[in-house]
Amino acid sequence: MICLGIESTAHTFGISIVSDQKVLSNIITAYKPKSGGLIPGKLADHHVEVLEDTLRKALEKARVNIKNIDLIAFSQGPGIGHALRIGAGLARSLSILLNKPMIGVNHCIAHLEIGRFLTKAKDPVLLYVSGANTQVIAYEAGKYRVFGETLDLGVGNFLDTFARELGLGFPGGPRIEEFARKGKKYIKLPYSVKGMDISLGGMETNLRQKIKEKKHSKSDLCFSIQETVFAMLVEVAERAMAHTDKNELLLGGGVACNKRLQKMCEIMCKERKAELFVLENQFLIDNAAMIAITGIEMFKAGMKTNLKDANIRPYERTDDVDVKWR
Ligand code: ATP
Ligand code: FE2
Repeated sequence: MICLGIESTAHTFGISIVSDQKVLSNIITAYKPKSGGLIPGKLADHHVEVLEDTLRKALEKARVNIKNIDLIAFSQGPGIGHALRIGAGLARSLSILLNKPMIGVNHCIAHLEIGRFLTKAKDPVLLYVSGANTQVIAYEAGKYRVFGETLDLGVGNFLDTFARELGLGFPGGPRIEEFARKGKKYIKLPYSVKGMDISLGGMETNLRQKIKEKKHSKSDLCFSIQETVFAMLVEVAERAMAHTDKNELLLGGGVACNKRLQKMCEIMCKERKAELFVLENQFLIDNAAMIAITGIEMFKAGMKTNLKDANIRPYERTDDVDVKWR
């Protein structure tokens, strides 16, 4: 079976071709606002602009003729409505034109399913850290459940904001990682873990003050931000692993590209004799391969999305999804 996956929950517009066995292509086109935050209308314009080129590249790289596609999978939610609508619209059009079934996929669950497909992980806890999302997800009692999350800001958005305030540019995560490597001194920052949830609001206020004071170097600040925020993430991930009695940890989301976060997770897993799974960067960040992979799993379990149900679900929760494929 050959599936064409479409990702368009946020900055990324992606198309991927996946066969039962293999990812044949995974084309990622990311929207980067020149300055300031994201304007939903501009984001939608970007996705429309790159749509045709992304589709063509995905088919060419996979060496697949569009007529041989058996299934169309698209990210149905959660995400930004303006962006989701472009992907869902393309899925509907292709489904009608090719007369092939389609399937709507939950974006957060897809970050976990791709790990089960590409690695030996069987039943991992997922630490999902991207721009907007910060969640600890695992499968329990017939559903994917969120065991912990951020109570305010997503870690990626938090890092991007600080990189911007420190004048480091966008996206901020990779720039902070670079500067952190040169950091020598740990500056104490508010550490806030509540059960299996984290909160970054206090640290945000505290950091604004520290930036204004100009007492600390950018490198020391970046180093301290990473050490503190990542320790919080590792703590909640470990707690979820203990709570669910699982011994596999999978990383997902753009922030998971960070080598220091990967190292800290590795140390934690080693200490509790658990296994850590880290995908290639192209499968950690938002991508359409994970949508196609999850779509195939769902379709094989007898699920599909009718034209009239192929709406978008910007606020879909992870535990809303009926998991028939596990
Ligand atoms: P989502 O809709 O899933 O929230 P997103 O648009 O935030 O998606 P991702 O590609 O998953 O997309 O993540 C982007 C985020 O990852 C940005 O906030 C970016 O700063 C962060 N990031 C990327 N590389 C690194 C890194 N090396 N270290 C820390 N953060 C990183
Ligand atoms: Fe994501």
